[in-house]
Amino acid sequence: MSNWYDAWADRYEDWTDGMSADVPFYVELARQADGPLVELAVGTGRVAIPVAQATGRRPIGIDSSPGMLEQARVHADEAGVELDLREGDIRDFEVEEPAALIYCPGRSLLHLPTWADRRRCFERVAASLRPDGRFAWNAFAFNHHVASEYDGRHADTPLPHTTSYSVSDNRVDVTLDDGGTGSLWWATKNEWLGLLDVAGLRLEALYGGFAGEPLDDDSGEYVFVARR
Ligand SMILES: C[S@@+](CC[C@H](N)C(=O)[O-])C[C@H]1O[C@@H](n2cnc3c(N)ncnc32)[C@H](O)[C@@H]1O
Repeated sequence: MSNWYDAWADRYEDWTDGMSADVPFYVELARQADGPLVELAVGTGRVAIPVAQATGRRPIGIDSSPGMLEQARVHADEAGVELDLREGDIRDFEVEEPAALIYCPGRSLLHLPTWADRRRCFERVAASLRPDGRFAWNAFAFNHHVASEYDGRHADTPLPHTTSYSVSDNRVDVTLDDGGTGSLWWATKNEWLGLLDVAGLRLEALYGGFAGEPLDDDSGEYVFVARR
C-alpha cells in the first residue's frame, strides 16, 4: 500500500513546522483515557510521540504510508518512546482490545474521499471503542473567503506548492512543486454529525479551536469529541 505522502515523508516535518496547537489538546484527552490509545493516520508520530511521553503508554498508530511510518519509527527511537505502528487503512482497522481513546489529528479524515469511506471508518471506530470510550478528530471548516483567496495560488512555504479547489467534488488539491498531488475532501458540520449518528456515537463537544473556543462564523477548524 502506498500513498502521496510516501514521496515526501522525509519532509513532512517541514510542512507541519509551527503546527502544534493540537498536540496539548490530544495529549490531555490521552491523559484522561484509562485504557488503550489508538491514533488513526499517525503519520510521522507528530502527535503520538508526545502522547506516549505524557502517558507512559504505547499508543497504536495506524497509517497506510510506509514512508510516514518509517519516519515515525525513527522519531520515536530518537525520543526514546515506543509506538505500536501498523500499516493499514483507517477504513478497515481492527484492534485486539477495545480502546479508551481513538483520535485522528491533522485533518486526516479529510483524505477519505466519500461519505461511505468515512462511514466505514466511523463504524470501525465505534466497534473498536470501550463503552464510553472517546473519539476525537479535527477537520477544517470550509470557508468560501479562504477558498477564493487560495484557489489556484502558488506558495513557497512551508514547502513550494499550489492549492486548487473543486466545488463540484468538495475537494482541495495540494500539488507540491516536486511531489505530486494530494487531496482533501471537505465536510460540513452536519455531515460529521450524521456520521456520528449512523455509527451510534454521541457528540460530547464541538469546539472551534484546540483551546476549546466556541465554534462560530470565524472558526477555521472543527474540533470534535464524541463518545460511544
Ligand atoms: C496530514 S497527515 C497527518 C499525520 C499525523 N496525524 C499528523 O497530524 O501529523 C495524513 C496522514 O493520513 C494518512 N492516510 C491517508 N489516508 C489514509 C487511509 N485511508 N488509511 C490510513 N492512513 C491514511 C497518510 O498516509 C498521512 O500519514
